[in-house]
Amino acid sequence: MTAQQKKINAAKLAIKKIKPGMNLGLGTGSTANELIHLLGKDKNLAESLKCVSSSIQTEEIAKDYSIKFQQLDEFEFLDITIDGADEIDDNGNMIKGGGGALLREKMLANMSKEYFIIIDESKKVNTLGKFPLPIEIIPFSPKSTISLISKVFEEYQMTPEIILRLDSGGLNFITDGGNFIIDCYCKKILLTDQINVKIEKIPSVITTGLFLNMSSSMIIGYDEYATEINFNKE
Ligand code: 5RP
Repeated sequence: MTAQQKKINAAKLAIKKIKPGMNLGLGTGSTANELIHLLGKDKNLAESLKCVSSSIQTEEIAKDYSIKFQQLDEFEFLDITIDGADEIDDNGNMIKGGGGALLREKMLANMSKEYFIIIDESKKVNTLGKFPLPIEIIPFSPKSTISLISKVFEEYQMTPEIILRLDSGGLNFITDGGNFIIDCYCKKILLTDQINVKIEKIPSVITTGLFLNMSSSMIIGYDEYATEINFNKE
C-alpha cells in the first residue's frame, strides 16, 4: 500500500466529522488534499458549508469543486478545522509548516472549537524534532533573526543548523502572508513550551511551526483502515 492510500483512509474517517451547515477550516498539504477531493465529491455536503482555507494552494485544489471559501474575518469561530501535520506526538503536540502554511493554519486552529489532525502513520513520533522546525519570520534582516533564534536554542544546549527556505527556483520562499521561512534542524526538541515562548517573543518572528496543546484528536491512516486518538484539549 502507498502512503497516499493511508492518507485517503484518514481522510475517509475525518470527513465523517463534517456535518451539513458547519463552518469548516481546511488545512494544507497532501493529506488535507485527500479530504478536499472526498468533500468535493459530496456536492450536497460541500454546498452546505461555509469554508475557510489555510492557503492559496488549498483554494486552488478546491476550485474544481462546489467548495466556496469565505474570509476568516467573516466568522466568530469555526466549528471544526481538519489539517495534516509533519510530526505529531502522543499528546497531540505537532510540528507543522512543511508546506509553508503554518501561520494561517495556526490562525484557523486557534478559532476552531475542534481541531482534527489527519496523518498517515509515518507522522507519529515519540519526540518532536526530527522534521526540521519551520519558523515564519519577517523578510527584514533574516540573518539577525536567525542569530536571535540560535541564542534561544543555545540556552537549551541546542545548536541546530538553521536554513532560510528557498523555493524550487532557488529564490527565497515567500509565504501567502509575504514572509520568509527558516527551517531549524534540531533532531530532537524537548521543553517545547519554553522554547516556543522564547522564540515567539523575538519581534521579527511571526510564528513557529510548534502547534502545542491545540489538537482535539489525531486520525491515523493505515493500509486498510484508520483510527482516531482523542486528546484532552483544555
Ligand atoms: C503545511 C503543513 C501540512 O499540514 C504538513 O506539511 C503536512 O503535509 P502533508 O499532508 O503533505 O504531509 O503544515 O504547512
